[in-house]
Amino acid sequence: MKKSVLITGANKGIGFEIARQLGALGWQIWLGARNPEKGRNAEAALQTMGFHANFVEMDVSAPKSIEAAFAVVKQHSGKLDALINNAGILLREDRSLLRASPDLVQLVLQTNAIGALQVVQVFSPLLEKGSRVLFMSSGGGSMSGPVGGWAPVYCISKTLVNGIVRQLAHELGSRGIPVHAVGPGWVKTDMGGHGASRSVEQGADTAVWLATDAPDDQTGLFWRDRRVIPW
Ligand SMILES: NC(=O)c1ccc[n+]([C@@H]2O[C@H](COP(=O)([O-])OP(=O)(O)OC[C@H]3O[C@@H](n4cnc5c(N)ncnc54)[C@H](OP(=O)(O)O)[C@@H]3O)[C@@H](O)[C@H]2O)c1
Repeated sequence: MKKSVLITGANKGIGFEIARQLGALGWQIWLGARNPEKGRNAEAALQTMGFHANFVEMDVSAPKSIEAAFAVVKQHSGKLDALINNAGILLREDRSLLRASPDLVQLVLQTNAIGALQVVQVFSPLLEKGSRVLFMSSGGGSMSGPVGGWAPVYCISKTLVNGIVRQLAHELGSRGIPVHAVGPGWVKTDMGGHGASRSVEQGADTAVWLATDAPDDQTGLFWRDRRVIPW
């Protein structure tokens, strides 16, 4: 049986690279994207590489869209071996917490954290013992590192992601399902920009490793470069 994975926000950037690396390992890819045209283009690109990839429309900020995506995936896959919450936004206007509008705060938290939690809630019936649940977090969400003064709402959304990971790891632990947060580092994508220090291959590596090779008996941890880092 082919292993299967759902990756949110997988039409470009780190999500697409995770899809490419898992596709190369023979996994069945459910490629989540909110924009159907971009999703289909990414699906076609993976299929051209010879991989088993299917686009599924999913806007993680919209609960109905998550439920519709679940209905599609459930029709074809009885199980997900990995669920990777990768979709995320970092808005240009996100410069000061004192000046952040309620709409900006709402949108960033909904997309990066609350929506990601809802994806796990909705897709939970497809998770079995040994399935892995991963969240792309960020060093910006760390509670122990320095506060950088950049994108404060985005950083708080990732702190919330880390809290969600710890709580879900506890709840899903009884079902033998590891849950982890991954900090990809500063990666050259549309979000990270050209000046970033790391390639998408490096940014995707730890998530791919956690989905495929990480020990089953570890859960609720924050990782970078295949190593546990402090929250
Ligand atoms: N790049 C970095 O340096 C860096 C550092 C730390 C953490 N991360 C995290 O890594 C993840 C991937 O980032 P990236 O650098 O690959 O960013 P990216 O190139 O901007 O890609 C983000 C992806 O998320 C999708 N997305 C955004 N909002 C969505 C929504 N509501 N529903 C569904 N999909 C949505 C985007 O879709 P559209 O194409 O439709 O916009 C895109 O596919 C994010 O969670 C990010 O916070 C990145």
